[in-house]
Amino acid sequence: MGLKIAVSKGRVYKKFLKLLEKSGYTFENTKSRKLVIKDTTGELSLIIVKAQDVPLYVNKAFADLGIVGKDVIDEFDDTFYELLDLSIGTCDLCIAGKKAFNIEDYNHLRIATKYPKQGKNYLEKKGIKGEIIKLNGSVELGPVLDISDCILDIVETGNTLRENGLVVKEKYKKITSKLISNKVFYKTKFDIIDTFIENISKNIGGE
Ligand code: PRP
Repeated sequence: MGLKIAVSKGRVYKKFLKLLEKSGYTFENTKSRKLVIKDTTGELSLIIVKAQDVPLYVNKAFADLGIVGKDVIDEFDDTFYELLDLSIGTCDLCIAGKKAFNIEDYNHLRIATKYPKQGKNYLEKKGIKGEIIKLNGSVELGPVLDISDCILDIVETGNTLRENGLVVKEKYKKITSKLISNKVFYKTKFDIIDTFIENISKNIGGE
């Protein structure tokens, strides 16, 4: 009985793999296009999925565990356990806009974002009326094409903002990747989950 872990593809996957390798797990063919990758002992299976789908794999029990950013987690109601901060995939969820954008100028704010729930929370917290324009990617186009006044999006290097003439106006939330668990599997597979956490814990820290 091994562990199935849903991992979001891209930057987080690469960093998680490094953490696993540091913790003594060995993988072959990590550069292939395979979507299920097993370690050489067959104990771990990594299921490579889109970040937004990680909670679904965990909730529906297609995976025991998931690795996903807090930005994605906070779009879901609490149907899984958040077990551990992995200190990888560090970035900020930010309000960004054109240089001249000033939130005070708006009594109705249009926010383009991949994160509608957090966008609504932002408006509520600020006590501003407005609307959320849900996009699935390339969110920076919002202010560029006047689809929106600003965006709520993750910023890591800041390159995407810079290259599209946008700037950070407010850092809303610090984001890191978390280890999440299916609630039932956390009980039935407690021993192997616990051993896994123990193995990786000592290597967490410093991307
Ligand atoms: C994310 C995010 C920004 C970009 C920020 O998009 O939505 O567009 O990364 O990173 P940076 O600050 O290092 O430039 P992602 O690459 O996940 O692609 P997407 O637009 O398809 O969601």
